[in-house]
Amino acid sequence: MLESSDCEEVTVLRDRRARAVAVIALHDTRRGPAHGGIRRFAYPRLEDAVSDVVALARAMSRKCALAGVGAGGGKAVILDHPDLDRAGAYRLVGRAVERLGGRFFTGPDVGTTMADLQVVSTCTRYVATGAPGSGPGDLAVATATGVFSALAALAERLDQPLAGLRVTVQGVGAVGLELCAALHEAGAELLVSDVSAERAAVAAERFGARVLAPDAVLTEPCDVFAPCAMGHAIDRDVADRLPARGVCGAANNVFADTDAPSVLHARGVVAVPDFLANAGALIVGADFNLEGRSPDLARVRRIAATTSELLERSRREDRPPIEVAREIADERLAAGSSRGNVGSA
Ligand code: NAI
Repeated sequence: MLESSDCEEVTVLRDRRARAVAVIALHDTRRGPAHGGIRRFAYPRLEDAVSDVVALARAMSRKCALAGVGAGGGKAVILDHPDLDRAGAYRLVGRAVERLGGRFFTGPDVGTTMADLQVVSTCTRYVATGAPGSGPGDLAVATATGVFSALAALAERLDQPLAGLRVTVQGVGAVGLELCAALHEAGAELLVSDVSAERAAVAAERFGARVLAPDAVLTEPCDVFAPCAMGHAIDRDVADRLPARGVCGAANNVFADTDAPSVLHARGVVAVPDFLANAGALIVGADFNLEGRSPDLARVRRIAATTSELLERSRREDRPPIEVAREIADERLAAGSSRGNVGSA
């Protein structure tokens, strides 16, 4: 399969009794063991799951390289459906992760709760469950801290203070809600949307956020659009009309087509690459897994400096930030080196 041709390994797993199919992709382990969470999603076909897991694993490799973390990219996905034996599916993934013997460390992603990760941990030690005191801590908080740091650097680039900055957060789940908390504390004005009305209501109540209907999120003017739901929120058409000055969120693979970043760039909309902004969980996870270090959010906050340097280089070279970031990451992957950040590229 062409789209997986740059992956070291793609494995399809089945457990007939659990009516479960899952896929694990190890993209690139030249810099260190693969890191990446488990996504459970209702993919229409196995091919869709394979292309998603490969794209997500590739993004993890670039994320590691850009964050200067000595790890590589991997990911697991479970094909969700109404008859799935959920615990059986997570055990299927857990057994496969254990068989990999430390070549792949996994953790949360969309559709995977702490309870699911506890199930995985009955089969393998190579999983971060998020349980207090037992690993790298609350990964959603680490991710939100990174996104907030990147967003602060973006605000500086846009010459707008965080206080009064109008931010639309699409998806107020684990990461989106924590991001809202940080932005609220910094005095930003929040607009939120979620397909779960209940979750949106929580953000409205806790942070005075204005709730938007999910389809209004791309047309309501704001300063920064923060996609924190699923990927592919921005295609060429959306890029052409998104009423924002910047984009910075947690959602992986936010661009639905290849020319969306240049369309935004041509309009002067500054988009921070997702794989730079959302590296927080990876940083604390890899620190813990590879060096036994306890979570240090100060290391995550360094994403702000990396973002500033990247946005400056993008301005200087008049190229979309994601293009510059991919180039730096791919050079580092090819070199197999775990050192450096954007500034030293
Ligand atoms: P989550 O599942 O806790 O939250 C996602 C939220 O988005 C849910 O509340 C869901 O109802 C909502 N949603 C789904 N489709 C939507 C739509 N079309 N419009 C509005 N809301 C919608 O997931 P989590 O952990 O908060 O992750 C969010 C994103 O960040 C995902 O794309 C994930 O891959 C990415 N990410 C998460 C990390 C983590 O540490 N949890 C690490 C790096 C990336």
